[in-house]
Amino acid sequence: MSLRVAILISGGGSNMVSLVDSMTVDHPARPVLVISNTADAGGLAKAEARGVATAVVDHRPHKGDRQAFETELNAVLEAARPDIICHAGFMRILTAHYVDHWQGKMLNIHPSLLPKYPGLNTHARALDAGDTIAGCTVHEVTTELDAGPMLGQAKVPVMDGDTPDTLAARVLAMEHQLYPAVLRRFAIGDRSLLNLP
Ligand code: GRF
Repeated sequence: MSLRVAILISGGGSNMVSLVDSMTVDHPARPVLVISNTADAGGLAKAEARGVATAVVDHRPHKGDRQAFETELNAVLEAARPDIICHAGFMRILTAHYVDHWQGKMLNIHPSLLPKYPGLNTHARALDAGDTIAGCTVHEVTTELDAGPMLGQAKVPVMDGDTPDTLAARVLAMEHQLYPAVLRRFAIGDRSLLNLP
């Protein structure tokens, strides 16, 4: 019986696509639901084109009430009975009301070499710091933002003349390799740190 994977998105969903496309043949997991917090997320159509069920849990009606949003999100997730939840460009900060509910089942990908640059604007911060190496991290989700146990990291060189956009594109290409590789290991209970390349 395959493990059931739900994927949370907020935008284009390129990481979601990489994850969905990786769960085939002898992979121990299968995607069962893609949830977005916005109805206009481009990733929703990509999921539907791949035959994956989708749902929208709009955060805006719950403005200022994170717990109400997370209660609705938890209910939609419960119905899907996920064994693993992959946050893939999901741009909402989540509280203990959600994290405690799914403890041990949640992964996230962050576009920096944590613990450097948690939060936003990671590529601009790496360039401003003069870093010569950048990358991305897959980690377990805890109540502390971008700080859960690390499961994988992928490094890329910073090139002369890089802008935040050119660096983001180079890192994103590695995200698409790292996240599926970590998910497959996580699905068989391997929590050891994977380093790419
Ligand atoms: C990725 O860079 C990811 O690391 C960050 O948000 C971006 C989402 O990209 N969390 P996509 O929606 O997966 O294309």
